[in-house]
Amino acid sequence: MRIAIGSDHAGFRLKEKVKNRFSSPQIEFSDFGVNCPEPADYPDIAEPVAEAVARGEADLGILICGTGIGMEIAANKVPGIRAALCHDVFTARAAREHNDANILTLGERVTDPDLACQIISEWLKAGFQGGRHARRLAKIRALEEKHCKKT
Ligand code: RB5
Repeated sequence: MRIAIGSDHAGFRLKEKVKNRFSSPQIEFSDFGVNCPEPADYPDIAEPVAEAVARGEADLGILICGTGIGMEIAANKVPGIRAALCHDVFTARAAREHNDANILTLGERVTDPDLACQIISEWLKAGFQGGRHARRLAKIRALEEKHCKKT
């Protein structure tokens, strides 16, 4: 599995921990930065990670900032992205099973690092359930087509 990962300065330490914890022969990370804890603007990192996922160059994405909110908002501007901010394992599981979330966002300032790793494990393990949820995702795609400006 290929995972695109990125953070701003406020998520840098957790990003490094996540890479160390989850890198394996089964999980390959593409790291879109930042590479140090100097101040950075989260949309600058959310964009390339979201584009990599939307283009299919990565299977999933993980974005980390202080709260996870800015990364979630920015990533969801990219068509095809369903980014979910999760603070607990129940929501992480539902984000895949119900929403087929292709990007997980986390907040280093609000989520304990060990809990963040549990959230990621649960999100990676879960699978989209389809059925009624697929109908709802089709409606989200229709919203995107109706409202997103094409360039
Ligand atoms: C940076 O100070 C902080 O605003 C950012 O990491 C994030 O929490 C925004 O949503």
